[in-house]
Amino acid sequence: MAKIKFIFEDNSIPEVNVNIEALDKSLLELTEELDIHLNHNCGGVCACSTCHVYIHQGDQYLEAISDKEEDFIDRAINPKLESRLACQCIVLEESAEIEVEIPDQKRIIGHEH
Ligand code: FES
Repeated sequence: MAKIKFIFEDNSIPEVNVNIEALDKSLLELTEELDIHLNHNCGGVCACSTCHVYIHQGDQYLEAISDKEEDFIDRAINPKLESRLACQCIVLEESAEIEVEIPDQKRIIGHEH
């Protein structure tokens, strides 16, 4: 089981801590399973930037960033060094410990679920 903590830029949303079967799933898929609102306009194929998140901890447990992902991160709102696109963050180890921050979704025009 992977240990994943979701925190939210919108601090009216309480953090979510889970132990979950995560191997080979993307962080976007996990947000859907957990009913956490994260936009994903392109449907999770690395062709938008609406699933932008910040990985505060555990990046080493995720599939490495690609050049294409970096290009789309540049178009996200407020990109930082720890930025990733959740649909491209495949969990590679069942014992992963990851902390993810979800940007304020009210600032992003997108589709959820
Ligand atoms: S959903 Fe479009 S890049 Fe992740």
